[in-house]
Amino acid sequence: DKANYRHFMAKEIHEQPEVVGHTLARYVDMATEKVALPAKLPFDFGAIQRISITACGTASYAGYIAKYWFERLSRMPVELDVASEFRYREAPLRKGDLAIFISQSGETADTLAALRYAKSQGLHTLSVVNVPTSTIARESETVLPTLAGPEIGVASTKAFTCQLMVLAALAVAAGKARGELSDADEAKLVRGLIEIPRLMAAALATEPQIEKLARDIAKSKDVLYLGRGTSYPLALEGALKLKEISYIHAEGYAAGELKHGPIALIDENMPVVVIAPFDRVFEKTVSNMQEVAARGGGIILMTDAKGAAEATIESLVTIVLPDMAATFTPMVYAVPVQLLAYHTAVIMGTDVDQPRNLAKSVTVE
Ligand code: M6R
Repeated sequence: DKANYRHFMAKEIHEQPEVVGHTLARYVDMATEKVALPAKLPFDFGAIQRISITACGTASYAGYIAKYWFERLSRMPVELDVASEFRYREAPLRKGDLAIFISQSGETADTLAALRYAKSQGLHTLSVVNVPTSTIARESETVLPTLAGPEIGVASTKAFTCQLMVLAALAVAAGKARGELSDADEAKLVRGLIEIPRLMAAALATEPQIEKLARDIAKSKDVLYLGRGTSYPLALEGALKLKEISYIHAEGYAAGELKHGPIALIDENMPVVVIAPFDRVFEKTVSNMQEVAARGGGIILMTDAKGAAEATIESLVTIVLPDMAATFTPMVYAVPVQLLAYHTAVIMGTDVDQPRNLAKSVTVE
């Protein structure tokens, strides 16, 4: 049931600190500050040359963020595909490498077909799924469950952040197994993960401010989302969430791509949502925001206190999120991104939990 919430989506957004916390508790040992996966892996990360990650929609954006994590923490190359492309593009795959599949429902037709293809090519298959009895879970060599609980809203929210938690733990495990991370590195990263549920709860406190900003977004025809690094896939997710439930056209772009085309769209009617925690690429994103401001575009900046102090641009509204370790910001920044889409859809009066033309699980290709 919806508890006291108006929509399942709202309930599921608010449940995230709790369910991400449950997922965390299954993947790390808090006492020793080590990753402790719930399944024994039937392969050695040291013997794997390349990881391929395949999924659809929101799950593919979780995979895209994980690509950054695996590459940074384990120095392993990662290829990311949406399942409908992976299954037909005849990618050269190496027997014994690892293929990861991400799916809330575990029934998505394209993801399932991609899994079967990878299996037929002799790859190790590992799936991150929310429904443990699903077809994808049953057919995978290894299953890493997300503990989001049933997700009813068609727009995926809590499954996404739980997927990120599982993938973060797995990326740390890979880095450790390949000798790229020391015990001290692992402990530091695990401490960062342990903080996440509390930080997500703090991020929920931005809701009243976001509700107000949603009134402006609801007046727009198009919205642009920008980010760099792991905030780039989150920008893609933000745009998907907004279009899916509010029917407002939105695009996500890597901030550095702005001047390669999308900047032509910017005028005073085009709000730009910028996801930019204060990190090593923050300054670059500030210059992108200046380019937007110079063309009259309104900016909603999701950042932390340092970022808010650095970005002194007129016409900029900041949503200030808690300070945190740079690596895992997408789990926390997902919260305001989801809330903005949700409140915009509520203002638009759409059927938030059952948006038109969409199904919760896409079992046909
Ligand atoms: O069940 P799955 O995770 O495999 O579903 C994949 C996509 O269909 C799904 O994430 C879709 O993009 C959501 N409706 C987005 O909110």
